[in-house]
Amino acid sequence: MKVAIYPGSFDPVTMGHLDIIERGLDVFDKIIVTILCNPAKKTLFTVEERIFMLKDSLAKYNDRIEIDSSYGLLVDYVAKRKADAILRGMRAVSDFEYEFQMALMNRKLNRDIQTVFLMTGLRWIFTSSSIIKEAARFGGDVSDMVSPLVEKKLKEKFAAMKTSV
Ligand code: PNS
Repeated sequence: MKVAIYPGSFDPVTMGHLDIIERGLDVFDKIIVTILCNPAKKTLFTVEERIFMLKDSLAKYNDRIEIDSSYGLLVDYVAKRKADAILRGMRAVSDFEYEFQMALMNRKLNRDIQTVFLMTGLRWIFTSSSIIKEAARFGGDVSDMVSPLVEKKLKEKFAAMKTSV
């Protein structure tokens, strides 16, 4: 049984993430989608909100998908879960440098853990949680890039922020 950890901020989960998970399930028997802390990012949603949205989007996969969150080094989490690999998605060339750096650092930290990259579908090449949040913040239509629940949560979050200013 081959198990991959798919780590990320998932703030919020997008169709691009779901595309990578679908592709990952062609390669791995099980994928553990894990919310981890990226110190470079200030998140919009709490960990609980992000888990709720992931659960909604991934319910149909039943026991082939597990959703979790953790704090600390990714490689320590991978070892603790006895997973076979780290799964990461690659969109455009612009992702390459960051992903390459992170994979090599993870390898330096634990030589037994491999990172597997899958290419996202062309349709999602320009999507990212950050750009989706920016569009949604100013009322842009992101309905084809996120699930209906995530679209609703984005609207609620930005409406609440407006009223609290
Ligand atoms: O979705 P993101 O923000 O690109 O995901 C990045 C993430 C969360 C996978 C990365 O920041 C991470 O692995 N954080 C945990 C700390 C760690 O192990 N960092 C990598 C080695 S420096």
